[in-house]
Amino acid sequence: MAPSNLPESTTPAEVPAPYGSGPAATAPAQSAAGRKPISRVRIHHLQQAKDNGEHFAMLTAYEQYTAEIFDQAGIEVLLVGDSASNNVFGNETSLPVTVDELLPLTRAVSRAAKRALIVADLPFGSYEVSPGQAVATGVRFLKEGLAHAVKIEGTAYYADTVKAMVQAGIPVMAHIGFTPQSEHSLGGYRVQGRGDDAQRLVDDAVALQDAGAFSVLMEMVPAETAAVVDAALRVPTVGIGAGKSTTGQVLVWQDMAGLRGGKMAKFVKQYADLRTTLSDAAAAYGEDVRSGQFPGPEHSF
Ligand code: KIV
Repeated sequence: MAPSNLPESTTPAEVPAPYGSGPAATAPAQSAAGRKPISRVRIHHLQQAKDNGEHFAMLTAYEQYTAEIFDQAGIEVLLVGDSASNNVFGNETSLPVTVDELLPLTRAVSRAAKRALIVADLPFGSYEVSPGQAVATGVRFLKEGLAHAVKIEGTAYYADTVKAMVQAGIPVMAHIGFTPQSEHSLGGYRVQGRGDDAQRLVDDAVALQDAGAFSVLMEMVPAETAAVVDAALRVPTVGIGAGKSTTGQVLVWQDMAGLRGGKMAKFVKQYADLRTTLSDAAAAYGEDVRSGQFPGPEHSF
């Protein structure tokens, strides 16, 4: 069932809070008075969430049906992540995926989602060379991918890049902490910003915000460090393995819904077991075909 925060399901008594996971969404009748339903989530709505102490939810999506389902479930932000590399294209890491591979996925998600803000990842190699390269790639994601914003990984070093993109009209989410595209220079999947290193993350986040990033995403950062970064920023933060003080939370959908097998990162909470559901469905179908149960007369012309 669609949650109460979708515009089409609202009635005057149930007008929802704009953000699905904040207190207002769980108690719409009391807290929703005076709020207009949102027909399209925009970056200023995420800023409002931070300003009001509310939370928003973000999930990855890579194709039309999941985009439609998550959108209708009220997820505020859909990320066409470069995690498509290792969740769609079968690579081991996010490094090999290309702009030309991600663009059609972005377009499919953008076409299917009617309310969510669509953020597209710029893949490794598509923005590092110069601010000009980043602007050119960002333009492609907005123009050809129909995304509303892009995300880039990086430190304060990328402040000029963010500035150039924002000047060109491309909203940018900055991704700091553990940045999977730098897996080899970071020495593998490691928590970032422990102890004295926390100040480095604060400096990076502030520099990227001041360059114009509309949001800063933190991956695998101790909760206390993430809280300090969040407090130092005016713009909303998003966390993945960064505790609960961020404005938004993001998960890779195949982890959240239990489609992917194998070991999950500590920060993943699994809300379904789609792997078992699909496996059981495929096995039942195979059995029906082999035994002659399918197709039945009702499936035949
Ligand atoms: O590509 C991705 O899915 C991401 C998330 C892990 C934040 O960047």
